[in-house]
Amino acid sequence: MDIKKIAVLGSGLMGSGLCLAFARDEHTSVALRSRAKKQDPFAGVRSAMDILIANDAMTGGEADAILSRMSFTDDMETALDGADLVVECVPEHMEIKQNLFRDIEPLVRDDAILATNTSVMSVTEIAGKTRKKDRVVGTHFWNPPYLIPLVEVVKGDETSLDVMDTVYDYLRKIGKKPVKCMKDVQGFIANRLQHAIWREALYMVEAGIADAATVDEALRYGPGLRWPHLGILENVDMVGTDLALDIQRGVLPYLADNKAPSKLLETLVAEGKLGFKTGEGYQKWTPEQADERNRALREYLIKATKDLK
Ligand SMILES: NC(=O)c1ccc[n+]([C@@H]2O[C@H](COP(=O)([O-])OP(=O)(O)OC[C@H]3O[C@@H](n4cnc5c(N)ncnc54)[C@H](O)[C@@H]3O)[C@@H](O)[C@H]2O)c1
Repeated sequence: MDIKKIAVLGSGLMGSGLCLAFARDEHTSVALRSRAKKQDPFAGVRSAMDILIANDAMTGGEADAILSRMSFTDDMETALDGADLVVECVPEHMEIKQNLFRDIEPLVRDDAILATNTSVMSVTEIAGKTRKKDRVVGTHFWNPPYLIPLVEVVKGDETSLDVMDTVYDYLRKIGKKPVKCMKDVQGFIANRLQHAIWREALYMVEAGIADAATVDEALRYGPGLRWPHLGILENVDMVGTDLALDIQRGVLPYLADNKAPSKLLETLVAEGKLGFKTGEGYQKWTPEQADERNRALREYLIKATKDLK
């Protein structure tokens, strides 16, 4: 199937970002649906485009053309009319997502694909109340979805391989870097990697090996610098599987292997130290510093993804 018309359900942070990611392709039209009648449903899209324009990654003309491919409605039937692909971006609650897919199924074509943008929940379970479970698939975009190329295409137990391929091919066509996650596992692929590193990073701070800023520096100026160009498993081949095996034998017994969350993280949350939003987490943050980090991240991503192969 040629995906040309997409319905995005939910107009929050990810819903807005996804509209922009899809409508950048000149052959895709996007209907954004939210229950709330908003003054400007595309405010999120506009502010994202402003950053792109300010960094010479988009022209005003392109922005207008992108907006012309988007429409907003609070009516579900209108949003789903003729949709080839429906992507839900509603809150991360199992029942909300299950019921949404159950309720929209009679309103979409029989061959329409239902995609969930869930961060961590089971795609199989989200499909639980649908009639045709083979058409339900995970599309885990990363924030901001109009800048981060990765989309994890996640196979639920009953997702058909045709649906996996159709969604994967479409995402490639619009310039994303999709990867297929062939098992419906917690954290899919990239979050499993990220959380394995988080566990060790949090442990090192807790154990007094280094403070938070130092742990971040070690990653940023060391291994993190080469990751965009050298995959970590490619790296195993580069140093030699024999060396990698020796290193694993030597170091694995000493790495964090806790199954429960970090105690220090629990303490920070209990003390209301929630990071940027309260001005302190592992480190202290003024509102200006927090804004600057958010802005700098977007600017970095614009530059970093420009030349990405
Ligand atoms: N924020 C992220 O970084 C991120 C990254 C990847 C995936 N996700 C996932 O994307 C999904 C959406 O996250 P978000 O950050 O955009 O959330 P959000 O809170 O910003 O937006 C949720 C939207 O859903 C609408 N909504 C609420 N209840 C609804 C209902 N019962 N039916 C229909 N619409 C409803 C809200 O009005 C809002 O527009 C979640 O599953 C989240 O886990 C988030």
